[in-house]
Amino acid sequence: MFASQLALAERYAVLLSDAGVVRGLLGPREVPRLWERHLVNCALLSEAIPDGADVCDIGSGAGLPGIVLALRRPDLSVTLVEPLLRRTSFLEEAVSELGLGNVEVVRARAEELHGKRDFAVVTSRAVAPLDRLLTWSFPLVRQGGELVAMKGSAIHEEIERATRTLRQLGAGAVRVELLGVDVVDPPTTVVHVEAPGPSALGLADARGPRRGPPPRRPTRPRTRPHRSEH
Ligand SMILES: C[S@@+](CC[C@H](N)C(=O)[O-])C[C@H]1O[C@@H](n2cnc3c(N)ncnc32)[C@H](O)[C@@H]1O
Repeated sequence: MFASQLALAERYAVLLSDAGVVRGLLGPREVPRLWERHLVNCALLSEAIPDGADVCDIGSGAGLPGIVLALRRPDLSVTLVEPLLRRTSFLEEAVSELGLGNVEVVRARAEELHGKRDFAVVTSRAVAPLDRLLTWSFPLVRQGGELVAMKGSAIHEEIERATRTLRQLGAGAVRVELLGVDVVDPPTTVVHVEAPGPSALGLADARGPRRGPPPRRPTRPRTRPHRSEH
């Protein structure tokens, strides 16, 4: 599963089960199932991410799935977004200890980055129900990119409940994918939500984008043409 990155993954596992537990980022009961339930699960997500993508992991916590993606896929550049200082401190230490040159740690709520940053892929695990997750993370997906969120078996109900938000956000195709069917039980469920392309947004037409400022509105009310009443 981790192939040549196995040594790095093992170092990360030690960090999680040691400092991660001491600092309350991971429950002690998770330690025996760290590989199966957390690391392998997150590693499977990398199968759903296109080559060379810039990825944002919102609500990264102790680095799941962002750090696993970064160590498994050196071709990706990964931004970990997490509002809590205790967690970003752990993330910075882990990134430095693992020597991950393809990771940036940003201390913020996802909403604070709206209009400032965008990414080809925005991912997350265990952050919020899809409806709320969409409002936080979909505005960070660049045109032509997608949201790829790790979810549980109730994903179809979550999609149903998010119908209105999907429409309001102008989301494109929604698709559920099961990863690692022969590897983990249950398999890893991810939902893909595509951002619309330029034509769907009405940004470009056959003449290309409009240049220059919008037409000025008249400053004085126009006088009606006088009609003679013959
Ligand atoms: C249950 S933890 C999951 C952590 C990690 N993704 C995992 O699977 O172990 C949820 C994380 O989302 C973060 N979070 C909550 N609201 C957020 C927001 N609006 N933007 C970014 N992160 C948020 C929390 O601080 C917390 O670290």
